[in-house]
Amino acid sequence: MDWGLKNRLSRIIKPETGRTVMLAIDHGYFLGPTSGLEEPKETIKPLLPYADSLMLTRGILRASVNAQDDVPVVLRVSGGTSVIGKSLANEGLTVSMEDALRLNVSAVALSIFVGSEYEKETLLSLAHLVDEGQKYGIPVLAVTAVGKEMNRDARYLSLCCRIAAELGAHFVKTYYCENFTQVVKECPVPVVIAGGKKIEEKAALELAFNAVSDGAIGVDMGRNIFQSDCPVGMIMAVREIVHKKAKVKQAFELYEEIKHKPR
Ligand code: R5P
Repeated sequence: MDWGLKNRLSRIIKPETGRTVMLAIDHGYFLGPTSGLEEPKETIKPLLPYADSLMLTRGILRASVNAQDDVPVVLRVSGGTSVIGKSLANEGLTVSMEDALRLNVSAVALSIFVGSEYEKETLLSLAHLVDEGQKYGIPVLAVTAVGKEMNRDARYLSLCCRIAAELGAHFVKTYYCENFTQVVKECPVPVVIAGGKKIEEKAALELAFNAVSDGAIGVDMGRNIFQSDCPVGMIMAVREIVHKKAKVKQAFELYEEIKHKPR
């Protein structure tokens, strides 16, 4: 692997632990002003010291993150659809590699929609993005989006992750599922998990714990952090699990402690 690409990846996946806590705040690219992300700048501010990287769009990067902030950026470069449109799967590339470079990103991310009517287009976009990234040493994160009609099971997610890796993705983001070890084993590149819809804090910590115990190198978590009643407590607790191999009980206690700390 080329030096620049390795260097960028190591800004996201911390060499000290081989793991990562990515903060996903890209939801607006198809959902608009998501709950908890109405004013991204305010959401990000207290969380920034605890995020190993920010996953977000070009517009929110420009508007909500200071160029002086020392946080690696994973730039979402796919989109073109909305939650009220015909098909979420019909995504295309939304940012050129030149602009990603100008923005000094550490990686670019796009969604693939395996099994959807736009499977081929999104997979070819991934291959194209990998080619472009190879030219400049920019790693590519493939996000295995799951359509309503698809099962979030190990068989399907293994298929998605493996195809993403075969097409050259440098790391993959997917969902946790039963038999997740199979998904990780059959994917030759590192896997991170998305948090999914907001659930109870303890359950979200269990999800992070199970994912890393089953081989994920970390999380790219959004709503279960920024929609929590104590986002800072949640991201700190997730870090304990991911980087310090804490048990759920210990991490949950930290979340509670931060939540009840007088301000
Ligand atoms: C979805 O495609 C987006 O990339 C989100 O960033 C992703 O779903 C992770 O966020 P959450 O933990 O809220 O699911």
